[in-house]
Amino acid sequence: MKILLTGGAGYIGSHTIIELYKAGHSVVVVDNLVNSNQEALRRVSKIIGEEFPFEKADIRDRESLDRLFGQYHIDAVINFAGLKAVGESVSKPLEYYENNMNGVFVLLDVMRRHGCKNIIFSSSATVYGDPAIIPITEECPKGQCTNPYGWTKSMLEQVLIDVQKADREWNVVLLRYFNPIGAHESGLIGENPNGIPNNLMPYITQTAVGLRKELGIFGNDYDTHDGTGVRDYIHVVDLARGHVAALKVFENRNEISSQRDEEKGLYIYNLGTGHGYSVLDVVKAFEKVNGVKIPYVIKERRPGDIATCYCNPSKAKEELGWEAQYGIEEMCRDSWRWQSQNPNGYESL
Ligand code: NAD
Ligand code: UFG
Repeated sequence: MKILLTGGAGYIGSHTIIELYKAGHSVVVVDNLVNSNQEALRRVSKIIGEEFPFEKADIRDRESLDRLFGQYHIDAVINFAGLKAVGESVSKPLEYYENNMNGVFVLLDVMRRHGCKNIIFSSSATVYGDPAIIPITEECPKGQCTNPYGWTKSMLEQVLIDVQKADREWNVVLLRYFNPIGAHESGLIGENPNGIPNNLMPYITQTAVGLRKELGIFGNDYDTHDGTGVRDYIHVVDLARGHVAALKVFENRNEISSQRDEEKGLYIYNLGTGHGYSVLDVVKAFEKVNGVKIPYVIKERRPGDIATCYCNPSKAKEELGWEAQYGIEEMCRDSWRWQSQNPNGYESL
């Protein structure tokens, strides 16, 4: 299939291109590079040994999208494009709602005008809020998000559900990612946050490489085995492969066994490993695997954080034949390989 990847120059998108090519698909990438660097795409080309089309454009720019759909026969879209910094979304709610929501509105409209009605949407475990069930299944009710970023995911899920309900020709796949970390084994591509990292693993790797003095651990008084927050970390390459597996829905949606006829066309999956690791577990695993010490201090809880979040990933296994292959050691090893080989991310060259 030919897949349009919006936001394909970013962390998850760049890894997904590689897995799509490995599975025999081809891609067109559109990204405005607001949170990424074209160097990532050059390195992806090097890894796959092939060039692919890239358009530097904003997905809110209807003309650019229209041109792309006219130029290429696109079978499906994977929408990664979006702003994702939780803290920034609290201080700039309008910018987040405008970018993330409007981007998808324009994209969906252009898609239907061109008769392309297959979409995979990057959603997040954040839509469960403080989850009612652990491990979280897809049946777990959605919850109260604690920030505008999370609400864009939750509301866009609803938009996509309504679009699919109104026109059953649509195939909509909502992938709820848990916590992606790790990097491609080549060490050529990885996560490249702007400024001070918000997320745990880039903070750890930047501390290890000497860019940060010490890791701040946000609270050690949660109701978890060691008091620090527990999450379901998933290797980004496993996550990328989850997208390839989800394309099955577009190739033959009748093969998805659990669906009743009237439900066909809407698919929701958790993508995680099903294992929960605390902040201290991750720090210890990182130190052990890589032989690097991570100095840390315990800080106040971070507002909006929950104690525990990990999933039951069995639905994706049963229906898509996908399950995560990598464990926490590989995630720590590959995150460090990327950071140590590229101390300043894509700016190092
Ligand atoms: P990322 O920031 O690395 O990638 C997103 C890409 O979208 C960037 O390259 C950015 O330049 C681009 N972009 C943003 N707005 C755009 C617009 N209007 N037009 C065109 N391009 C635009 O983020 P990522 O970690 O690769 O995440 C990909 C998707 O997955 C995002 O939607 C994110 O919200 C979602 N997600 C990420 C995580 C995570 O922890 N990384 C967890 C759950 C969900
Ligand atoms: N943490 C620290 N110190 C840090 C950063 C994080 O102790 O410097 C802790 C957090 O308190 C939490 C854990 O590490 O207990 C993981 O935090 P992250 O910020 O890495 O991840 P979150 O689970 O908070 O959120 C991430 C993404 C969200 C997404 C969510 C679920 O940032 O966008 O996973 O997919 F919605």
